[in-house]
Amino acid sequence: MYKHIFMSRRHALWLGFGTLASIGAFAKNKVMSGENQTQVLETVKRDFRVVGKASLKERAAAKGLIYGVAIRSHNLLSDQKLAALIAQECGMIVPEWELKWHVGNKPLRPQPDAFDFSVADRMVKFGRNHGMLVRGHTLVWHESLPPWFQETVNRQNAEQFLTQHIKTVVKRYAGKMHSWDVVNEAIEVDDGKPHGMRSTPWWELLGPNYIDLAFRVAADADPKALLVYNDYGLDYDTPQHEAKRTAVLKLLERLKSQGTPIHAFGTQAHLSADESRFHPRKLRKFFSDVADLGLKIIITEMDVKEQKLPADIQVRDRTIAAVYEDYLSTALDEPAVIAVLTWGLSDRYTWLSEFRPRPDRLPVRPLPFDAGMNRKLAWNAIARAFDTAPKR
Ligand code: G3I
Repeated sequence: MYKHIFMSRRHALWLGFGTLASIGAFAKNKVMSGENQTQVLETVKRDFRVVGKASLKERAAAKGLIYGVAIRSHNLLSDQKLAALIAQECGMIVPEWELKWHVGNKPLRPQPDAFDFSVADRMVKFGRNHGMLVRGHTLVWHESLPPWFQETVNRQNAEQFLTQHIKTVVKRYAGKMHSWDVVNEAIEVDDGKPHGMRSTPWWELLGPNYIDLAFRVAADADPKALLVYNDYGLDYDTPQHEAKRTAVLKLLERLKSQGTPIHAFGTQAHLSADESRFHPRKLRKFFSDVADLGLKIIITEMDVKEQKLPADIQVRDRTIAAVYEDYLSTALDEPAVIAVLTWGLSDRYTWLSEFRPRPDRLPVRPLPFDAGMNRKLAWNAIARAFDTAPKR
């Protein structure tokens, strides 16, 4: 349990030598540049000490922020330790798939004329019974669409399907939702469409105005919920991320200029410990530009994948913790940021295990708690970022 990172001298020396050996190996097979090697050495030396015993929920709340997690119903219902930890550490939850159109074997939309809220209702009830805020994810996306979608939805009825889905789902939880990811991942510059729009079924069927329509229907269905545009791939100083930040910013500007009822921007922050091109000033400028539109910002799905780090757990945990701390200390400097959610709480349940596994098949370690539900340095890094963030 990492309560405080006070290591015995022996442990520190062991870690130092072990880490240097790992860096040597890492450098050798990665042919790391001097700057990267310095960066990893810096990470090794970093002190992720935290003061006090407050939870992430309490540390966030002390600064007027919210900390939350994505959770899956089947894990929540089967794992009491996880449920207790979520109640202890989190001020907000978001169902990882239960409010999407169609995931798994108990989907929200089993048929074109049917809704099954049984699983989603349990999630919303769990949140509210534990005094947590709940956010909805996601009303309009190009993934997790039902098997019946393609042969049923067409240009003539697409608006009716979109409107009915949003109205029915949002009205059911009206007044209970902190926020909704109304539209998810609508920008894909590589699709070559105008304004960098992603060629999604909704874009193909309804044109670019599907976004404005979705927000207007959601606003009418629940005037209290914060309505969010959510996207990913906006974090690093790479040509792809820079192009996407530009396209997303222009989309938000267009929506605001046409009076679309959008209140916040969600940046998913699926980060990578293998990516060294992190440029705090560029990220801070992007957050500032979004805030200048009058939008709040939510870090909606934060985690850190680590497919290329050496096998040494100490090196991995320190490097991952440094990624959390560097990103959050930059992001939380922007007062418009109101919440941070990690995409899961424990390494026992992370999408990365299945979708971004390590080549050496070692269990991934992207989240604040390990698979044994013990705090990791990533927890310390998030705690430190909340502790040093300006108060809202
Ligand atoms: O639980 C069922 C299981 O009962 C069934 O046997 C199995 C058969 O396919 O499916 C299981 O459901 C899977 C579900 O994750 C379980 O959590 C789905 O197949 C699988 O598609 C689903 O993947 C989710 C993915 O979105 C697609 O909806 C991931 O968990 C989830 O982490 C991921 O989250 C997305 C965000 O919504 C948007 N941003 C990116 C993020 C990561 O891809």
